Amino acid sequence: AGPCDLFSSGGTPCIAAHSTTRALYSAYAGSLYQVKRGSDNTTTNIAPLSAGGVANAAAQDTFCASTTCLITIIYDQSGRGNHLTQAPPGGFSGPESNGYDNLASAIGAPVTLNGQKAYGVFISPGTGYRNNAASGTATGDAAEGMYAVLDGTHYNGGCCFDYGNAETNSHDTGNGHMEAIYFGDSTSWGSGSGSGPWVMADLENGLFSGLSAGNNAGDPSISYRFVTAAVKGEPNQWAIRGANAASGALSTYYSGVRPSVSGYNPMSKEGAIILGIGGDNSVSAQGTFYEGVMTSGYPSDATENAVQANIVAAKYATTALTSGPALTVGSSISLRATTACCTTRYLAHTGSTVNTQVVSSSSTTALKQQASWTVRAGLGNSACFSFESVDTAGSYIRHYNFALLVNANDGSKQFHEDATFCPQAGLNGQGNSIRSWSYPTRYFRHYSNVGYIASNGGVHTFDAATSFNDDVSWVISTGFA
Ligand code: AHR
Ligand code: AHR
Ligand code: AHR
Repeated sequence: AGPCDLFSSGGTPCIAAHSTTRALYSAYAGSLYQVKRGSDNTTTNIAPLSAGGVANAAAQDTFCASTTCLITIIYDQSGRGNHLTQAPPGGFSGPESNGYDNLASAIGAPVTLNGQKAYGVFISPGTGYRNNAASGTATGDAAEGMYAVLDGTHYNGGCCFDYGNAETNSHDTGNGHMEAIYFGDSTSWGSGSGSGPWVMADLENGLFSGLSAGNNAGDPSISYRFVTAAVKGEPNQWAIRGANAASGALSTYYSGVRPSVSGYNPMSKEGAIILGIGGDNSVSAQGTFYEGVMTSGYPSDATENAVQANIVAAKYATTALTSGPALTVGSSISLRATTACCTTRYLAHTGSTVNTQVVSSSSTTALKQQASWTVRAGLGNSACFSFESVDTAGSYIRHYNFALLVNANDGSKQFHEDATFCPQAGLNGQGNSIRSWSYPTRYFRHYSNVGYIASNGGVHTFDAATSFNDDVSWVISTGFA
């Protein structure tokens, strides 16, 4: 049985079921998600390998070979058509044209389920999905449940990495107009014990960790790589539950009456579905989503416990984030541009600016050092890499406003993540393309001989589709110094 078969048996059927990793009904063999590739802007649908099975990641890899791919649609497996697509602007605008949010890279969150490769939805700040015309979702004070499987190590304090029920007009229409799972370490509204991240409920104008607005010590900090997060609500009753998605059982972090703050009892749920954003399209948050559902009716703890056992049996596990020619931690490297204009140019820096410069064996020692980088384990994720400046120990290549800079490591989580990159086989067939860990739609690119993290055809000048594959492909060799 799949999670939604278990919710049906429990009398609280799924009215939306979303996953890029697997079928959530044992009989589901339809499309899980759609990807669009950068080379020709065509799309394809990815289905499970067999009914009830894991996504056919190899089909994605083939379709997306030698180009970039975005996740354009996350299909609803419930049969209700509650698909998630690129979120439109609301109270806040996204970074894409006309205020739409970014779409997620199709390769930012590789995992295995029972040893079979699949991809999750890696939400960078600015990314979001939504359905403002969902059918069968709870409205008003009606009962519902929801769970999601997330990456417990990918989060931030921005508003709001959510999955669940939100406003149908993408604006903040008041307390109680949402009921969604939140995951992250925002302390703007609520918090739990420790320093986070926490599973909380986004009930609009408040992330709630328990009965009271603010801190509720019963809501624990989460340190699982894979986390099951659950929220459910019915008249004057709601709960937060959570677990390690790879082993063990759900714990109840809160179960009880609604917050006493005005507007949350009764609730005024509107029934849209959001992923990765706040109800008003707040787009500052990050997180990774693998699967999730929403139900009609308040699921019993026993039903949710059976679903948790099903998730554990799916055996989520990590897999490589890198591919292509291997890098060796501790070695000094150079990165040579491969665009026809620029094949004598290497990634270098002038002060804090990252650029490309013509470098050769007869260059000055200073220039050789400016164009040499020491490979370090990724500061934000040790499965990827960071690049320390050879002439400025303690300073690393990082992105800031999508420009590459050389800055001193200030020890912050933000810096560590901005300085973490995951090399993959070069998109033009040469060397490596160096993907940003935190913005996996974006790669090291030279544009007018200046360094950026660029997406393929995005809104910035340096995102130009022309020459993209060449500009993001670098031949890595032993450093000059
Ligand atoms: O409740 C927290 C956030 O507040 C909501 O997600 C958003 O709509 C509002 O800004
Ligand atoms: O480069 C994109 C973002 O810009 C970085 O993550 C952040 O440090 C800055 O705001
Ligand atoms: O960085 C040099 C060139 O500048 C790039 O190849 C091109 O895309 C841009 O015009």
